[in-house]
Amino acid sequence: MSDLVSINPATGDILWKGKASTPDEICAALHVASQAFEAWSNLRVDTRVQFIKQFQTKLLEKRESFAELISKEVGKPLWESLQEVEAMVEKVKISIEAYDERCSLKKHLKGMTTISTAYKPHGPCAILGPFNFPGHIPLGQIIPALIAGNTLVFKGSEQAPLVGFKLTELLEDLPSGVFNYLTGAKDVGHALAISPYIKGVFFTGSYQGGKELAKALGPLPNKILALEMGGNNPLVISSIEDHETAAYLTIASSFLTSGQRCSCARRLILSEGKQEDEFLKVLSHMIDMIQIGPYTQDPEPYMGPLISNKSADWALDVQKQLLSSGGISLNLMKRTRNKLPFLSCGLIDVTDISDRKDEEVFAPLLKVIRVKNFKEAIKEANNTEYGLCASLLSANAKEFELFFNQVNAGVINWNVPSTGASSLAPFGGIGKSGNYHPSGYYATDYCSYPVASITTASLFLPKTLPPGITLLVNT
Ligand code: SIN
Repeated sequence: MSDLVSINPATGDILWKGKASTPDEICAALHVASQAFEAWSNLRVDTRVQFIKQFQTKLLEKRESFAELISKEVGKPLWESLQEVEAMVEKVKISIEAYDERCSLKKHLKGMTTISTAYKPHGPCAILGPFNFPGHIPLGQIIPALIAGNTLVFKGSEQAPLVGFKLTELLEDLPSGVFNYLTGAKDVGHALAISPYIKGVFFTGSYQGGKELAKALGPLPNKILALEMGGNNPLVISSIEDHETAAYLTIASSFLTSGQRCSCARRLILSEGKQEDEFLKVLSHMIDMIQIGPYTQDPEPYMGPLISNKSADWALDVQKQLLSSGGISLNLMKRTRNKLPFLSCGLIDVTDISDRKDEEVFAPLLKVIRVKNFKEAIKEANNTEYGLCASLLSANAKEFELFFNQVNAGVINWNVPSTGASSLAPFGGIGKSGNYHPSGYYATDYCSYPVASITTASLFLPKTLPPGITLLVNT
């Protein structure tokens, strides 16, 4: 199998060199996950939860070093990696609550019978994680899947293998075979997903990646497939007087994690007008002042580098194409350090480009689209095949009511950034963004399946027999 290299994107230093998991290693992981399933799924939920709490204690102890590893491997500032680790710690409690609420045994008495719904785990499942939240996003599936009684084979992003190793170390108290970690790229993920051992596949990544996976699993409809595939998210601004706050919320929507969040706003939609022109000036000014640098910089920056030079080059290329098709740059996205993937934030007015590409640009590049009025803004917000997040900044509650009712997305926010999804709510989208298996609080739903039973302790005859049936005792 191919070589795998983990690179600190802020310095270009090699952090680790290794090999992607070989077919034999993939087989071995699948085999042990399958063998461990019976014993793990037969444990009481409380016992499984105890194992998860042990993991939580260890994570809390390693909170700082784990956060530093995230920063080192994917480039986020330390304050942001610490937030990621906090969210991971919180995830344990929330996942337990979610399981209790959504998957506990439900019973109804009907005459002599009890009608019940219980939840069973699928079996060994594959989790295919992204680089941008190398800890939090996979953990949001790992914890609910383990609580439900599944065993797991986790393949982290090939761009963040070390975080995956660390996560595995923190889960080492689980019984042998319950959690298994593989490294590698798409080919390893696909080999896992199509294996007959695997009953469920939980993927977070690009639309292209999700689509390829769905295609590979097309002939295997017996597997549950949960896809989270990003977005081309709109941020609509209307009736706003506080330009600085609106500019801050726009920055937090679009440039957090250097624009490498699925929830980032990619299209800023606002009306033509003097107020809006003024707002754009304020925004442009504040963008110029954003601090970008390595996580080791003191004082800490707002943003770090992109994950790789390849990613940065691609984003710069997208900007170039937009400029050559009539886009007007308000802030030019530029490389700020030679040969490293640090990019400044770009703001580009694309209103005059008639055939705008509907794509997710995973980088700090925000497209501005000017419209005539709020009605047109909603139309423009829906001018995408994606449907993950949408946010409205407006002082007018009626506008939010309209926005909520008419915009097609799985997350619809008002006066807060499009980023910063809450673990207390579902996180997933429609169209090219997902396949109706949201994660977040609802990840627990796809980690088990409901089993219906109608039961009674002894045999009994109905009070009235149906026509045509005669009991022998009456003959
Ligand atoms: C993501 O899934 O990329 C980010 C969600 C968030 O902004 O919290």
